[in-house]
Amino acid sequence: MSIEVRTVTEAEFPDWNRAVNTGFLRAPTDADETVEWRCARADLDRTQGAFENGRCVATFRSFAQELTVPGGAVLSADAVSNVTVSPTHRRRGLLGRMMGADLARAKERGDTVATLIAAEYPIYGRYGFGPAAWITEWAIDVARSGLDPRWSGPGAEDGGRIDLVDGADVRKLGPELHERFRARQPGAVDRDERWWGAFTGQTSNGLPWTEPYHAVYRSASGEVEGLAVYASDGAWGDSKQPLNTASVRDLIALTPAAGRALWRFVCSIDWVTTVRTGHRAPDDLLPHFLPDPRAARIVTHSDFLWVRILDVVRALEARTYAVPGTLVLEIHDAAGLAAGRFRLDASPEGASCAPTAEPADLALDVRELGALYLGDESALRLAALGTVTEERPGAVAVAEALFRTPRRPWCPDVF
Ligand SMILES: CC(C)(COP(=O)(O)OP(=O)(O)OC[C@H]1O[C@@H](n2cnc3c(N)ncnc32)[C@H](O)[C@@H]1OP(=O)(O)O)[C@@H](O)C(=O)NCCC(=O)NCCS
Repeated sequence: MSIEVRTVTEAEFPDWNRAVNTGFLRAPTDADETVEWRCARADLDRTQGAFENGRCVATFRSFAQELTVPGGAVLSADAVSNVTVSPTHRRRGLLGRMMGADLARAKERGDTVATLIAAEYPIYGRYGFGPAAWITEWAIDVARSGLDPRWSGPGAEDGGRIDLVDGADVRKLGPELHERFRARQPGAVDRDERWWGAFTGQTSNGLPWTEPYHAVYRSASGEVEGLAVYASDGAWGDSKQPLNTASVRDLIALTPAAGRALWRFVCSIDWVTTVRTGHRAPDDLLPHFLPDPRAARIVTHSDFLWVRILDVVRALEARTYAVPGTLVLEIHDAAGLAAGRFRLDASPEGASCAPTAEPADLALDVRELGALYLGDESALRLAALGTVTEERPGAVAVAEALFRTPRRPWCPDVF
């Protein structure tokens, strides 16, 4: 029996949703409201399913996203999500068929890149995606941190203040704060109204949710400059010892002062002995906000946001470069979407990029270009690993100086 891969209709959406849950090993059936919420969020024209005998056995969805790149420009991205193939139908090429169709349409539409959060490392490199932004999670042992247990919040130090607010307030002030945050954070992606609704429990996306606390930081001038969202597990040890772990779901700060105040605040809450930070940039300032940075122990360090370049010229012209330099890049791309030889003339004032017939300085797969693009990966490292080939002596050093950024990109969101 042949398997048909195509976009899904609204009537098929509940079956498609069941297949998503099956692939993600969640209970197969959701409440009607959850299915309706997901259907309303999905662009059905970009929602694919594989059907056998009328039953959905594989799923794939993409949506329009904005990705901030080094320098602050925003690119149109084809964000890929809900990728599953039921265990009865795995390893027969269904993912390959759905990915091929989606990327071809993204290219036609004019998206500059495609993005995704990879569940497992080996899945997406073959489709031209490279790991472009990593995350680190720390567990802070509050007792070891050296913070003063008498600290009563910001104020005396920087004139700022912290207030607890509720979800409705966050829906009002969160979007603007986040817009300002993402404009300066390479790797960050946009959040729409639905995102804020689900994040604050106004609407259910079907995933388990309990109401968290929301702490807002205002600077001395009264500007909202940071938000921390956290929940505690309420754990106690024997002999009446509070042993609460506070898990941070989101913490965005526009300034180091806001970050310092919010992290110290979460670490100062009575009964909280451990703070789990959630996914942070690997070079987050956090450990150094603590008098003893070793109190923050790394519990997760992993690749997170994967990027697939679709339009080399537009992508390379959109980001900024700290130093001047010229490179001719030979890009290999098995899917043919971004293959070619391109000359990049970069400088701190701007960059231009165009196809060229000049000899190549550097040869690499589009996957490696994706890994280098946001500034996280090192061209020297990739050359040492043999995945970037130096065709002209010194070209790898030029690529290192051009692509690498002093601060690392970070995508705080799962999508
Ligand atoms: C990951 C998943 C979508 C792959 O689907 P699939 O239809 O089996 O993939 P394909 O048959 O198109 O695989 C294409 C190639 O990728 C390889 N591949 C796919 N998934 C892989 C994995 N998890 N690890 C290693 N290799 C993998 C296949 O072996 C195949 O290699 P080949 O061309 O050399 O034979 C499917 O296994 C799945 O749903 N897993 C659980 C949910 C999940 O992790 N989804 C991804 C969320 S980001």
